[in-house]
Amino acid sequence: MEHLLKLADLTGPQILQILDLADQLKYEKKRNIPHERLKGKTLGMIFEKSSTRTRVSFEAGMFQLGGHALFLSGRDLQLGRGESIKATARVLSRYVDGIMIRTYAQSDVEELARFSSVPVINGLTDAWHPCQVLADLMTVREQKGSLEGKKLCCVGDGNNMANSLLVGGLRTGMEVRIATPKGYPPSPQAMAVAAEYPGQFTWTDDRFAAAKDADVIFTDVWTSMGQEAQAQQRAQAFAGWQVNRELVSLAKPDVMIQHCLPAHIGEEIAEDVFEAHVPEIYEEAENRLHVQKAVLVLCMEGK
Ligand code: CP
Ligand code: NVA
Repeated sequence: MEHLLKLADLTGPQILQILDLADQLKYEKKRNIPHERLKGKTLGMIFEKSSTRTRVSFEAGMFQLGGHALFLSGRDLQLGRGESIKATARVLSRYVDGIMIRTYAQSDVEELARFSSVPVINGLTDAWHPCQVLADLMTVREQKGSLEGKKLCCVGDGNNMANSLLVGGLRTGMEVRIATPKGYPPSPQAMAVAAEYPGQFTWTDDRFAAAKDADVIFTDVWTSMGQEAQAQQRAQAFAGWQVNRELVSLAKPDVMIQHCLPAHIGEEIAEDVFEAHVPEIYEEAENRLHVQKAVLVLCMEGK
């Protein structure tokens, strides 16, 4: 794999290859089997937005692979004083073996990849969150045995998570239903991918219909990072759009509930539902570590 910029760039088999390696690395980690496959390599991690899971899982993951990770805050880099993405890509490529970036515009990640001579990994943009959805698919496959034909329901904003779930779910053979309030649809780029899978995809503003017989229900915050100025307006538009007992009762009895975290308990998800599904939600968070290690190995090993 050259870069990981968005899941739309990958085929279903390529996604499954990442999940297979992630399963193997998780197995090795749990049994303390050494897997220092990136010995001596350095990952630069640029953060223009906050992060707990992404930062810590990438940094710990690089260490476990025998390498090293550098936390680079966008504010502290010259990037924050106007040095271009292009110039940043050119110089960082001389020092590090891979770059992970969390930022606003997807075009900045694409630009970084264009001018970087080392692999670039998208750690979240306004448009996509590929690493998260790889962890999500890993968790669903782990618990349900397979992805093919399973019903994935995503309730809430048509944001980076919904868009990535749409693409990742469809590419791996899941039946994908995205439920959003009117005015908060998936992105045109995600809908273009959906058009490749007629009969496997529904987008609706009826969250109850979307949840019917679901194998897994995903939700995410109503206001994503960078949208804080719209928080009030969004709270109104999303009122009632909560994964609660009523909604969950329509799904399969063994439905999984997933949330990328951080969660706003009492907004997009009811406290009792969250608490009842804590083990699988935190397994999902843990799987960020394993799946990203797989991505790092596939992008950086032997280069
Ligand atoms: N889910 C996720 O990406 O978490 P962080 O924002 O804490 O990295
Ligand atoms: N949609 C959220 C995801 C956070 C991991 C955001 O972009 O803020």
